[in-house]
Amino acid sequence: DKGPFRHFMLKEIHEQPEGLSRVIGTILDRPSMSLLPPPALPFRFSDLKQVSIVGCGTAYLAGATAKYWFERFARLPVQVEIASEMRYREPPLDPGELALFISQSGETADTLAALRYCRAADQHVIAVVNVPQSSIAREADVALPLMCGPEIGVASTKAFTAQLTVLLGLALQAARDRGTIEQERLDSLLEALCRLPAAISATLELDDELKGVSRVLARARNVLFLGRGLHYPIALEGALKLKEISYIHAEGYAAGELKHGPIALVEEAVPVVVLAPSDELSEKTFSNMQEVAARGAPVILVTDEAGRSAGTALGAHILTLPTTDPALSPIISAVAVQLLAYHTATQLGADVDQPRNLAKSVTVE
Ligand code: M6R
Repeated sequence: DKGPFRHFMLKEIHEQPEGLSRVIGTILDRPSMSLLPPPALPFRFSDLKQVSIVGCGTAYLAGATAKYWFERFARLPVQVEIASEMRYREPPLDPGELALFISQSGETADTLAALRYCRAADQHVIAVVNVPQSSIAREADVALPLMCGPEIGVASTKAFTAQLTVLLGLALQAARDRGTIEQERLDSLLEALCRLPAAISATLELDDELKGVSRVLARARNVLFLGRGLHYPIALEGALKLKEISYIHAEGYAAGELKHGPIALVEEAVPVVVLAPSDELSEKTFSNMQEVAARGAPVILVTDEAGRSAGTALGAHILTLPTTDPALSPIISAVAVQLLAYHTATQLGADVDQPRNLAKSVTVE
């Protein structure tokens, strides 16, 4: 049942505040504002030397985002793996290390095969899944649920932000257990996590603005998404979402890579979506934005109050997202790119819930 929404995708985008609130309740004890103990894990984070995070598509990009959190907060090196690459590359793996498998459906054939490969190498296997009785959940040592309810739209939306939130919670557990985070920093992150559902609701209220800006994308044949640090995987996700449902060719790039090739594509007909909520890297991204604006590209700047002024002088379309702790801002910008893709696709008359050639669950390789 789509309720008052035109599509399941839009309904699922709007379910994010509630779903995230539910999953945050498993990470954070709200009265005391402290981390809840994780489900019994068969290892100690303090014994780990590295982590692999494995998935496909959007689930892979949740892992690519979480790499920053695990490395920054828990000082744990992370390899992020595309499941279909990992399973055939057969990398050497150290027993006793942790492998995390991300999958909404829990049935993705390549992710399941990679899980079996890591298990055979005696690694600890944790699954982050939305379907508790799925194959991936059953074959893992521990399955962490996304608690966001069934996702019907082929484009993954609420599962992605739930994956990010669960992974952030795990990275914070790891950081605390390894003694790599100051209590004060942990407290401020937990505060921000507590306020996340409200920030997502405020982002959903920007729907009209996002719809207006998506007209710029609907006219284009090619779109670039740029981001740095935590926003690089969200740039990739924005491009994936847009191409998947609107059939417009889109590429996500690390903003620092612009000069190494993609700037050759930049001209008046190629809109560039710049993801740069203010953080210690946003100034650098703003310089890249100036470079594309100088070549005549229409710029859509996704930022927050503190970042607005960088776009004003360039005549960019500016989307001002709610301010949050910079570590959590990718979860908020993820919602913005979902709505951008949604409105672009619906303006073009595309069937967003059932895009051509795609299946919700990819159970064959
Ligand atoms: O069920 P899974 O999370 O394992 O699915 C992985 C990908 O097939 C999935 O995220 C796909 O990329 C989505 N259609 C993206 O919106």
